[in-house]
Amino acid sequence: MCGIVGYAGHEQAAPILLDGLEKLEYRGYDSAGVCIGDGGALRVAKAKGRLAHLSELIDGGRSLQGTIGIGHTRWATHGAPSDENSHPHIADSGKIAVVHNGIIENYLKLKEWLVGLGKRFHSETDTEVVANLIEHFYDEGFDFRMSVRKAVERIEGSYALGIMCRDYPDTLIAVKKDSPLIFGFGDGCNYIASDVPAILKYTREVCYLDDGDMVMFTASDAHFFNGAGDPVEKRPEHITWDTSAAEKGGYAHFMLKEIHEQPKAIRDTLSPRMKDGRVVLDDIRLTPEYLKSLSRVYVVACGSAYYVGVQSKYIIEKLCQLPVEPVLASEFRYADPVLGADTLVLIISQSGETADTLAALREAKARGARTLAIVNVVGSSIAKLADDVIYTWAGPEIAVATTKAYSTQLAVVDLLALYFAQCLGTLPQARYDQLYGELQQLPAKVERLLTEEVISRIQYDASRFFNNRDVFYIGRNLDSATCLEGSLKLKEIAYIHSEAYAAGELKHGPISLIEDGTLVVAIATNPALFDKTMSNVKEVKARGAEVLGLTTERFADEIAKSVDSAILTPETDPLFQPNLSIVPLQCFAYYVALMRGCDVDKPRNLAKSVTVE
Ligand code: F6R
Repeated sequence: MCGIVGYAGHEQAAPILLDGLEKLEYRGYDSAGVCIGDGGALRVAKAKGRLAHLSELIDGGRSLQGTIGIGHTRWATHGAPSDENSHPHIADSGKIAVVHNGIIENYLKLKEWLVGLGKRFHSETDTEVVANLIEHFYDEGFDFRMSVRKAVERIEGSYALGIMCRDYPDTLIAVKKDSPLIFGFGDGCNYIASDVPAILKYTREVCYLDDGDMVMFTASDAHFFNGAGDPVEKRPEHITWDTSAAEKGGYAHFMLKEIHEQPKAIRDTLSPRMKDGRVVLDDIRLTPEYLKSLSRVYVVACGSAYYVGVQSKYIIEKLCQLPVEPVLASEFRYADPVLGADTLVLIISQSGETADTLAALREAKARGARTLAIVNVVGSSIAKLADDVIYTWAGPEIAVATTKAYSTQLAVVDLLALYFAQCLGTLPQARYDQLYGELQQLPAKVERLLTEEVISRIQYDASRFFNNRDVFYIGRNLDSATCLEGSLKLKEIAYIHSEAYAAGELKHGPISLIEDGTLVVAIATNPALFDKTMSNVKEVKARGAEVLGLTTERFADEIAKSVDSAILTPETDPLFQPNLSIVPLQCFAYYVALMRGCDVDKPRNLAKSVTVE
């Protein structure tokens, strides 16, 4: 959601900014712009639409000369996507230029005040208020840095800001609160960006700015200040992953690449934590005594990460006899949850920056609960704030629709369940050993789902069903949780209306929507519930539905009697079956989206990292 890049150096800035913004396209945006400093001038080019359009307007950056600048991709919040509302925004007298990610909550009050002082506005954005506010203090006689500081003292909300001042032609200032921003240490140049891929081609030495931090930098030096305005030292962290991790590597889309990376991502996440028949979680400090004192676990997250939470309820409750309650982060923070020392709050987030999840984490801590986060992005806000963190080693996930992050989050939940069971003594050794063995085999089984043979079968199903207007995903128990994620994948990238229902719920209402040709995806992987789900399949078939079944290899013949087409997965323990079932559902959504001509990696209206409420 909104991408920021800034550069101060000796090369032409505009091509570097365009290149960086391209690497941030995955975050989602609807307009783009750059501001280039050229001696005393601030030259802006911005336009609604794709970055390629902006790039064309400025001849790949060549028509905007200058070696310092800020760039932005905007995901509209205040004001429609338009040229005027695109960033950068220039203050009324032209002295300050600003790019912004986040939301200024008190912008209307500030705008009114600034208008009263004679400032004119040209957009509907909250960001233009920031530019004018900084310029107001600058005109009062404060220097560039103090003007920014005084402005951020007045604004409420979330922000990562990149700021230029006409009178400081070599200097950029960046400041952040509740929106991600990194600083990149270059050789004779320096950078800011919303995320590492934007600058990875140029530097591997970065630092993650903390809330309240400000950096004032030129090509040759950088000065960091904390929220109180005191100078602080920031040490660069070396990024070890390769640029190829943030590139398509021969795949048509990031999503397809990330689907295929799942066996490795799951292996990388599981294997360092499984040693000599035991789950070893050195990264967290939850002792058996603490776990025994727990009366409840809340799992708090958004979107797909929340669906991992729904899975976790079945898995942890079954293996640990510990009550688990999944809650949407956007609801949790306003629900007045009952928390205390006997409650563990498990936070799940790929980006580690999701605004609602971050706010829920703060709420949980404020209410005295211990927090444990499952996060993919090292150094992200959630990773820093949680009491304990377990990283999913999925590598950078670029496609907006999550795949490998979801799979690795689920693998961590499996690990945690085994770890808790190990500490609580809730499993007989033989059952523990059996699950441990199954978990070890997961990456290889996921690999088997990504062979040419399975994929071409799914492509065939996609070609058969891609024109359906309504799709229902049904399943029981853990399969019903898998339905939630399978259905979300289809809606978000293929724009098909789809709903997920616990199969037993169908006849309590939604079955009235089934008519000739409605597609029902029926997941039936649990042997104990197979027949029951097949009864539900019969009910929808009797009303004209076409049914795509998903089950395990052993039910191949059985399911063929009831459905129009079937996808088979290898066998594992029913508790771990969702780790396998989701893979063909991701592929199905991918190929359906492809056949419908959708922009798979950048679905409309969506952003990768949702940093506003
Ligand atoms: C769907 C998807 C989203 C995210 C959600 C949470 O494919 O990616 O539903 O799961 O926005 O994001 P994180 O995990 O970054 O907190």
